Amino acid sequence: MKVTVVGAGAVGASCAEYIAIKDFASEVVILDIKEGFAEGKAMDLMQTASLNSFDTKITGSTSDYTKTAGSDVCVITSGIPRKPGMTREELIGINAGIVKMVSASLIEHSPNTIIIVVSNPMDTMTYLVHKTTGLPKNRIIGMGGALDSARFKYRLAEALGAPISDVDGMVIGGHSDKGMVPLIGKAVRNSVSVSEFLSAERMDQVVQDTKVGGATLTGLLGTSAWYAPGAAVSAMVQAIACDTKKIFPCSAFLDGEFGLSDLAIGVPCVLGANGIEQIVEISLTDAEKAKLAESAEGVKKTNGLLEL
Ligand code: LAC
Repeated sequence: MKVTVVGAGAVGASCAEYIAIKDFASEVVILDIKEGFAEGKAMDLMQTASLNSFDTKITGSTSDYTKTAGSDVCVITSGIPRKPGMTREELIGINAGIVKMVSASLIEHSPNTIIIVVSNPMDTMTYLVHKTTGLPKNRIIGMGGALDSARFKYRLAEALGAPISDVDGMVIGGHSDKGMVPLIGKAVRNSVSVSEFLSAERMDQVVQDTKVGGATLTGLLGTSAWYAPGAAVSAMVQAIACDTKKIFPCSAFLDGEFGLSDLAIGVPCVLGANGIEQIVEISLTDAEKAKLAESAEGVKKTNGLLEL
């Protein structure tokens, strides 16, 4: 399994690090436009191999896409991150041009690749890759729901006073402060609905804190987060590499599923060797359906800003 990570910034580097530490890929190539930067990150990471016990070979390159040839999975993290107070949507102008160029260059050298899009506004960047590359829809996956669900579980565990391993929950919808739909009614502590443990007000607080999870971190860090985004991508890459068929909420191109079409938005997906192997049409309550429809409208509005 060869994985390319485009962008050696904090998210790209964390992603490469987590993939290497889990030791399921034979090769990770990191690419960046800043001269020598990806090479430096790769060398630094390789010097952790004997300490962290992995055999994954990590190399770096300054924008040489020939080095990415034959990749099974390519992760696009390139573009500018948010600064405090910015929405993910405000990044569209610069990031759309970058993502279009990067995806075309990757596919030129790895025509069979699966692409994972991380750059923001992520659902719209995923849609852009669908519209401009012609790759089949199972091979274009947006990373948002895996991260937002991890943040949801963190907030649930905090509210419940429970270990995270005892908690499960999922966030669907757009990867934006307004668009996320944390499915609180389906969240459980060891198979028991969290509503048996938490008041309606506390559950509402968990939902609100989850939705601004990324914005809270940009406020604290001065830039966008990287550990959880990197870990979320690496978990998705592992599901593909090891053909696990695990369900992750991912930004998938919809063609009528959930009554939505012509957009990419977060929905539960089975991930395996073929990328998105199934979109799982879980049943939603009327309130959840209404929130997903509203979220889809927001994503479509941002998609409308693309010059396709
Ligand atoms: C975040 C970015 C990756 O939510 O969108 O931290």
